[in-house]
Amino acid sequence: MNEPFEDELNAAKADGLLRAMRTVDSPQGRLINFNGRDFINFSSNDYLGLSTHPAIKKAVHDCVEKYGCGTGASRLISGNMGPHAQFEEKAAEFLGKPSALLFTSGYSANVGTLTALLGKGDTVYLDRLCHASIVDGARFSGAKLERFIHNDPESLEKHLSKNGDSKGRQLVVTEGLFSMDGDCAPLKEIAETAKRHGALLMVDDAHGVGVFGPNGRGTIHEAGVAEMVDIHVITLGKALGGAGGVVAGSKKLVEGLVNFARSFIYSTALPPATAVAGTTAIGIVESSDGENRRIRLKQNVGAVISRLGKKCYNTSEESQIIPVILERDYLIEMSAKLFERGIFVPAIKHPTVPKGSERFRVSLTSEHTESDILALMSVFEELEVR
Ligand SMILES: Cc1ncc(COP(=O)(O)O)c(C=O)c1O
Repeated sequence: MNEPFEDELNAAKADGLLRAMRTVDSPQGRLINFNGRDFINFSSNDYLGLSTHPAIKKAVHDCVEKYGCGTGASRLISGNMGPHAQFEEKAAEFLGKPSALLFTSGYSANVGTLTALLGKGDTVYLDRLCHASIVDGARFSGAKLERFIHNDPESLEKHLSKNGDSKGRQLVVTEGLFSMDGDCAPLKEIAETAKRHGALLMVDDAHGVGVFGPNGRGTIHEAGVAEMVDIHVITLGKALGGAGGVVAGSKKLVEGLVNFARSFIYSTALPPATAVAGTTAIGIVESSDGENRRIRLKQNVGAVISRLGKKCYNTSEESQIIPVILERDYLIEMSAKLFERGIFVPAIKHPTVPKGSERFRVSLTSEHTESDILALMSVFEELEVR
């Protein structure tokens, strides 16, 4: 008998799609260390550099001294400690919703929410580029799954109109800022379309929170549609520099999730220090320190876009996530060249992105320096557009 996965792994290898992990021997900073060598890091979603912020590290140390490292139980048994409750209060206030609930990750927040809320007879409408955690949650829920054209409210309108007489719950899901294309959703139009049809609206702002909107409250606040968003999902794992997922909404929504979201109920609570990291990170995001980091990030985005624009790459110009789409073989060749020069930019291949749209995903942070950006640009400027 074959080893488990032998055939599948061989097939993935033959297609050049085998995945493997690298071990990092440093914090996630502007530099990252693999095997004793530093690389300029353009792979991190730690957009504001908060994963190494001194105030967060201190708060985490203090919390570990007081509460220890682990919780030893799920939230509904005895794992619900003061720091979790304090975090949720802070998160709800920050996101401008009556209530918020902390999950162990953004993945489990999406899967838990969608499976709790939806079932047979319901319909869920996803933007075609929604993240795997949203697709998985929608599929696991048993609801009818419809996918509208990326960032196209008219396509959403057609799908919703077609199901006009459906008695089940209707839920529209999009992301605020898309993780692979770096473009923002037309949130106002999507929200208006959903509401015209009486559908609920869920926005996953994993990549927008901390970076967009007044005080970093995210894309839904930037677009002025926060009131129309019934379910607001964020992760603490990106601009907030820690770990965990959050769902914010009405008190009833959160009470429903506490009772029915299986990924919340049947999972050990996050360590209290992780909740404290989240609370401290939100405080920084709202402060002038956070604002200064957003300004630096914006300057870095401007510096890259203006130089890439001259080469006519197919890039989004809206955010800190900058895709550079290239032919697959060329992508692999260039990836090796960047690595040789001490620059780490992840090459994103199918199936994470559709075939034919393989790309570098340049991820900028507030911590990159001008010389980091010049080093990256010097390699990109040597590239032929293919
Ligand atoms: C849009 C989106 N939602 C959810 C997640 C999952 O969040 P987490 O990493 O906290 O599980 C990610 C990325 O990881 C994401 O890009």
